Order: sequence, then C-alpha cells, then structure tokens
Amino acid sequence: MNNNGNIIEINDLKKSYDNGKIKALNGMDLVVKKGEFISIMGPSGSGKSSLLNMIGALDTADEGSINVAGIDLRKTKNLSEFRSKEIGFVFQMHNLIPNLSVIENVEIPMFETKASSNEMRERALELLKSVNLEDKIDQKPTKLSGGERQRVAIARALVNHPSIILADEPTGSLDSKTGAIILNLLKDLHSKENVTLVMVTHEPYVGNMAERIVNVLDGKCQNIVSSP
Ligand SMILES: Nc1ncnc2c1ncn2[C@@H]1O[C@H](COP(=O)(O)OP(=O)(O)O)[C@@H](O)[C@H]1O
Ligand SMILES: [Mg+2]
Repeated sequence: MNNNGNIIEINDLKKSYDNGKIKALNGMDLVVKKGEFISIMGPSGSGKSSLLNMIGALDTADEGSINVAGIDLRKTKNLSEFRSKEIGFVFQMHNLIPNLSVIENVEIPMFETKASSNEMRERALELLKSVNLEDKIDQKPTKLSGGERQRVAIARALVNHPSIILADEPTGSLDSKTGAIILNLLKDLHSKENVTLVMVTHEPYVGNMAERIVNVLDGKCQNIVSSP
C-alpha cells in the first residue's frame, strides 16, 4: 500500500488492441482506498474487464501508470508473485477444476506459498465454513449448483489473504436470487477478511451494493458517484 492509504492508483492508463484500432483503455484514472468496496459499471465493451485485468496484472498497459499494493506494475518483473500474494480473482465462470474436490480446489492457490498441508486444510476449511459449504468439501464441483460453485470460487480467491478481490461480473451467470446471496457473501467477507473489493457489473442493483460506483465509458472513468 502507498503511504496515502490508496491501494490502487491508476493514472492516464492506455491499452489498445489490433494495432491501435481498438482503444480498450483510453486515459483511465482511478484511485481506490485500502478496504474500499467499489463497483465498476458501464456498457459492454467500455473497458471494464480490461481495467480489471490491468489491476490484477493479467495484462500490461501501453502507456500511463498503475500502482497496486505499493507495486509499480509497469516496472516490476515479478507479476506472478504479485498476483499470488495480493490478488484474488472471481470470474463470471468459476473456472474450478472438475476432478478435484471442493476443498482441493480452494487449496490450489496455497501451493505457491510456504503453507504446510495442515495449514492449507485449516484455512480452506475456515473459508468453506464462511461460505456455508462445510458439508460439501469432499464433493466434486460438477455435483454443485451454479451458486455453490461461485461460493467455492470466492473461498479460493480469499485463501491466500489477498489485499484485493477482483470480481468480474460474479453474478452474471446466476439467477437474481442466487446472485443476491453471492453478493451479500462477498460484501460480508470484504469486511471480515479486511480486503479491498473491486467488482465489475452492468446490473444497477448489484452496483448499488458497493460503497462507491465508478462509471466507465469508452475506456475512461466518467464520474464518481457515491451510493446513497
Ligand atoms: N485481448 C483482446 N484483443 C482484442 N480486443 C480486445 C481484447 N480484450 C478486449 N478487447 C476489446 O477492448 C474493448 C474493451 O473490452 P472489455 O474490457 O472486455 O470491455 P467490457 O468488459 O466493459 O465489456 C472491446 O472493444 C473489446 O472487444
Ligand atoms: Mg467484461
């Protein structure tokens, strides 16, 4: 984190694809305080996922600056270490490994740490309890409902105590009732695990659950609206 309490600082960030024909990020500015819960909203193709991918160091920018958890992402060589230490990802599609059990799926990110197998079990179990899946730990993900799978993905995202959770349309493939359960869970865990939560959504009711809404249009943050 930087001295000023900002965990994310993005300045005039640019990223284009197709030899410059597609400007996915076109001078993006964004500041997020440590522990904040923000939602990023905007129409399809406006650059929301590109922005999230930059914050999570899944992609690199062409111009501008991006500092996350005190790391200058355009300068550091250790992007994978940054990702496994600081970032937890929750995608629309959960990306669970079908032939591993629920608890094994949650443990996977911990293999990159120095945790012992007991510590891994304990931490995975703690999170699976938090997402109310204690009774499903030995099941295969294929046996679970969509909402249950997304809860496993949330537990997996938190397992290494990341400083930031990046969630890209986490309720996009769920019905609204299940989606609401997932959102409330994310919101609770954001406080309980003391993590910064950056969530992309195009659904207003989802966005309104955040402490702050950031609107993205044509690769830029438009204005900053506080939720009531
Ligand atoms: N890897 C890529 N290659 C080419 N074009 C891309 C790539 N990723 C994103 N884009 C384009 O960049 C723009 C922004 O995309 P994206 O960030 O996915 O928008 P959103 O998540 O808001 O729907 C779109 O025009 C999209 O087609
Ligand atoms: Mg997207």
